[in-house]
Amino acid sequence: MKQARLAGMSGLAALARDARERAHAPFSKFKVGAALRTRTGEIVTGCNIENASYGLTLCAERVAVFKAVSEGLRDFEAIAVVADSPRLTAPCGPCRQILWEFCGDIAVRMQDLRGRSRTLRMSELLPLPFDRRNL
Ligand code: THU
Repeated sequence: MKQARLAGMSGLAALARDARERAHAPFSKFKVGAALRTRTGEIVTGCNIENASYGLTLCAERVAVFKAVSEGLRDFEAIAVVADSPRLTAPCGPCRQILWEFCGDIAVRMQDLRGRSRTLRMSELLPLPFDRRNL
């Protein structure tokens, strides 16, 4: 866990970019990094971790969320996701569900290696969520 209030979303994206270098993606070769920040400034990073049994692969976003939750962190305000692709990489469907569960309507910054970025809220990425209010 890093305790840092870096320069807003671009600082968070820089940490996601660093985390991306630690991806274990020998099968897809598609590396992703994520950095999740709490309202009090703690930052937890994640990278995708693949497995020869492909379905066991973990996305960078979920690694970051589960690391943070397992360390006792809650009350998140933003996540940055960095990948190298022709179009910006948004969290996959299952990650959107997990992000909604633990982070709610946080800001999601998507960025590529050229620095192109876009920020949306989770409520834009998952407009009609299934959550505890349904149960
Ligand atoms: N992946 C992520 O880590 N996050 C995303 O938002 C999209 C997909 C990973 C999973 C897999 O290791 C690789 O990217 C290709 O799907």
